[in-house]
Amino acid sequence: MWAYLESGAREGVTRDEAHDAWRSVRLWPRVLHGEDAPDARTSVLGTPVRTPVGVAPTSLQRVAHPDGELAMAAGAAAAGAVHVVSSNAGHLLDEIGAAARAVDPAAVWWLQAYLPPDREQAAPVLRAAAAAGARAVALTVDTPFPGTKYEPAEEDWEGIDLSWHRINFTDPAAYRHHRGLRPEDLAWIRETCGLPVVVKGVLRPDDARRCVEAGAAAVWVSNHGGRQLDRVVSTATALPQVVAAVGAEAEVYVDGGVRSGIDVLTALGLGARAVLVGRPALHALASDGAAGVAGLLDTLTEELLEALELAGCGSLQGARTVVAPPDLCSP
Ligand SMILES: Cc1cc2nc3c(=O)[nH]c(=O)nc-3n(C[C@H](O)[C@H](O)[C@H](O)COP(=O)(O)O)c2cc1C
Repeated sequence: MWAYLESGAREGVTRDEAHDAWRSVRLWPRVLHGEDAPDARTSVLGTPVRTPVGVAPTSLQRVAHPDGELAMAAGAAAAGAVHVVSSNAGHLLDEIGAAARAVDPAAVWWLQAYLPPDREQAAPVLRAAAAAGARAVALTVDTPFPGTKYEPAEEDWEGIDLSWHRINFTDPAAYRHHRGLRPEDLAWIRETCGLPVVVKGVLRPDDARRCVEAGAAAVWVSNHGGRQLDRVVSTATALPQVVAAVGAEAEVYVDGGVRSGIDVLTALGLGARAVLVGRPALHALASDGAAGVAGLLDTLTEELLEALELAGCGSLQGARTVVAPPDLCSP
């Protein structure tokens, strides 16, 4: 299952470039500004969180740890981080919501959704998420079908209980991805469950505008961790144009290859409001369950605060002033 968690689409070009794209951006620290020590607290969609780092949705978490999404929820709640639950989760949404609330009644989690051709199949899941305490729905738009990956091999799935990843659907076998998503689907989700919609998987400024015009509360720059179309642009490269196109009309988030607090600082500096991690959260879950996840998020947040202060920023907002212009980015 390691191969499943790590895999990228096709030759893995996009997956492999993701982290280096953050590393290639240069910082431009400020001095003599008399700034206080920064604080990581912020909000997402108006809800307070203790860190701008969150957990991206990943399917099949029970292959990483027997407590799967329950442990991921508890770990994220302990760190005060937003947790986005994959619709391909292995625990029921109300159990996941309860696991988060047991750690912190103010824990923030969202449901990630794919929409099947027959929308009504998704409606019960969306309503169950709202009833279980989800604060938003992240609609993944980069996955008309799962992109081809060369690993893992068919036989590696032997012994894995795949019913785990469809436990929240009434008719799992009939549930499929949908090729023809449209801006109107955002309004349908809002009307169906009453939650704001975040659009996950946007790389282009023109599409980001279409999301905002269709009523998206946030646009999430992502290439699915390089698991859909190989050789697409890295998220670090795509982010600035999306931020410019969205302006103050919606929040912008980003994921892909974020592996350190300095990566997080860079993403905030390029205009993201929140920064999410996929594979690192799975690694943390596999190594030490909820404690591992909380430890990962706390470490990324501490690294972010150290980097912010060394960059001369007294707040998260200050990050916007310390990314060097492109002509200073090559050594
Ligand atoms: C094993 C795995 C499963 C994933 N499953 C989903 C999913 O169910 N829904 C979704 O929107 N994104 C899914 N993603 C993509 C992540 O949400 C995220 O975009 C990506 O992992 C970020 O890159 P990173 O792993 O480099 O942090 C998955 C990623 C991985 C690695």
